[in-house]
Amino acid sequence: KNRSADDLRSPICCILGHVDTGKTKLLDCIRRTNVQEGEAGGITQQIGATYFPMDNIRERTKELKADAKLRVPGLLVIDTPGHESFTNLRARGSSLCDIAILVIDIMHGLEPQTIESLNLLKSRQTPFVVALNKVDRLYGWKPSPGAPIRAALKQQSKDVVSEFDMRLSQIMTELKEQGMNSELYYRNKELRKYISIIPTSAISGEGIPDLLMLLVQLTQKLMEDKLMYMSEVQCTVLEVKVVEGLGTTIDVVLVNGVLHEGDQIVVCGMQGPIVTTVRALLTPHPMKELRVKGTYLHHKELKAAQGIKITAQGLEHAIAGTQLYVVGPDDELEDIKEEAMQDMKSVMSRVDKSGEGVCVQASTLGSLEALLEFLKSPAVKIPVSGISIGPVHKKDVMRASVMLEKKKKEYATILAFDVKVTPEAKELAEELGVKIFMADIIYHLFDQFTAYMNNVKD
Ligand code: GTP
Ligand code: MG
Ligand code: NA
Repeated sequence: KNRSADDLRSPICCILGHVDTGKTKLLDCIRRTNVQEGEAGGITQQIGATYFPMDNIRERTKELKADAKLRVPGLLVIDTPGHESFTNLRARGSSLCDIAILVIDIMHGLEPQTIESLNLLKSRQTPFVVALNKVDRLYGWKPSPGAPIRAALKQQSKDVVSEFDMRLSQIMTELKEQGMNSELYYRNKELRKYISIIPTSAISGEGIPDLLMLLVQLTQKLMEDKLMYMSEVQCTVLEVKVVEGLGTTIDVVLVNGVLHEGDQIVVCGMQGPIVTTVRALLTPHPMKELRVKGTYLHHKELKAAQGIKITAQGLEHAIAGTQLYVVGPDDELEDIKEEAMQDMKSVMSRVDKSGEGVCVQASTLGSLEALLEFLKSPAVKIPVSGISIGPVHKKDVMRASVMLEKKKKEYATILAFDVKVTPEAKELAEELGVKIFMADIIYHLFDQFTAYMNNVKD
């Protein structure tokens, strides 16, 4: 349907890598924002999305005198967490993308989540480049802010260059051990066979122009066909958020197709499918992160790829990490409702059928899955009797208190990740003797709970 090379959608680029390699900081450097410093514990715990219009990319790459044939309208970049708990979010991010940036810390080389990310990319055959980040940490590095990497390397002393070469070749060997041939991007003559490496600094900006240019060139060279615009809507819910003045909203990534104000949509909900109508389609300003509060632009319609905030009635119980469906004129609403609930079924299947276990509550389906994954792991093995997404209310405390009447009283516990506990719920928990563990860093929650269980055992 109406596919043509003159009508390419924006590619989606996912940024992946081990924790603290500088994924968010690289995006901050490109956006000229400061998202990373606002994160709890300096770690990313949600998927983010930022739209880079082609004009900005052209501006940032002009020193490289790249050809002007940048035919995609822009680039949608998806930020993902590197912490080991968020395997599911990395999988989700990488499943949305056309191309990826794998970030490796030049001082650390390949780390566990680098390898996990590599395997995700391999299994989906997603083309990617490596950003070899933190080159400014090489001892004696002379910054040349925002410069293309070859110009920056020319400024360095012999010692810096030889340390750079030594670390680069070490990392190329490590990549080879993972079955990947790689080469510095400007020496790479075989884009399809060798992974391009772009040395970068997210702090002083060296290599950023190269990274942007390569992403656009690669997408145009390798996947024109895939980027030809398609009318079928493909859309994933990233977050469910209450915004002052807007009520409950959902943040989505529109991968394909067009969304309109007034579209009838179906999303997966805690209490069944939610059928509603798009009231407003909002985006952050270009070059701003969707997951950070800000001012929004209104749109009558939006074409893929975009990160979008949707306002509509009845989204309170929508579940992040699920698909959004648009009801077309020829669609059977009942079929779509059933399809929309598929994602929830897999999580529900994790709940212990014996009815004995702790209650787990989180802000998104993604973090809920991460918690469930942890509790299931051989070292932990804690059964779960109830799950919920969103704030802890009195009814959740009531549900957890049922465990007080069973053999394992220590299961009268709620693990609450990145959600509020209402004052009434807190009061009731104290009264009944239900323990609530709260944290906004997922592994702090694990630590608290592990300490508690060890105490109970002794
Ligand atoms: P997660 O999302 O939590 O996995 O981390 P991340 O990969 O997004 O890394 P982040 O952007 O949070 O950066 C981690 C730390 O490394 C921060 O303290 C950054 O300031 C620092 N950092 C990131 N990039 C660079 C760089 O190029 N040079 C130097 N010197 N520090 C950097
Ligand atoms: Mg990050
Ligand atoms: Na971090």
